[in-house]
Amino acid sequence: LMLVGEAPGADEDRIGLPFVGRSGQLLDRMLAAIGLNRKEHVYIANLLPWRPPGNRTPTPQAVAICLPFIQRQIQLADPDILVCIGAPSAQGLLGLTGILASRGKWLEYDTGTRRIRAMATLHPAYLLRQPLQKRLAWRDLRALKAALDAKT
Ligand code: URA
Repeated sequence: LMLVGEAPGADEDRIGLPFVGRSGQLLDRMLAAIGLNRKEHVYIANLLPWRPPGNRTPTPQAVAICLPFIQRQIQLADPDILVCIGAPSAQGLLGLTGILASRGKWLEYDTGTRRIRAMATLHPAYLLRQPLQKRLAWRDLRALKAALDAKT
């Protein structure tokens, strides 16, 4: 399973690892709820490898520059399932607009080597601001769990 977020925040920038701040802690709890942890089951990366100035949403230009690198990273990691976390990742990698309407739906992603299943879900930073939306993320996690169980 590979997850692709948006971009490093301040904590990630300092430590040099993805999702290590508050969002990352929530993400770890969400993964743990379906029996997953990063060490054994999940590879995590970001759409942008650097932190946008002032934590702004990545510009279309920045996404266009970084896209070939994350696409190649996905091809090399060669996951069975790709989950895009948040709107910029969902749009950049899956061409989805309107994360609330497009989340939780299975799509195909072509890694360049093969076609794999892919889904977009809500970003934990958004869930920290809008805790009631966690029920939507929980639906996505259950669908993800079912897909992973079907593989084994
Ligand atoms: N938000 C992201 O999208 N990625 C991170 O690595 C941390 C926070």
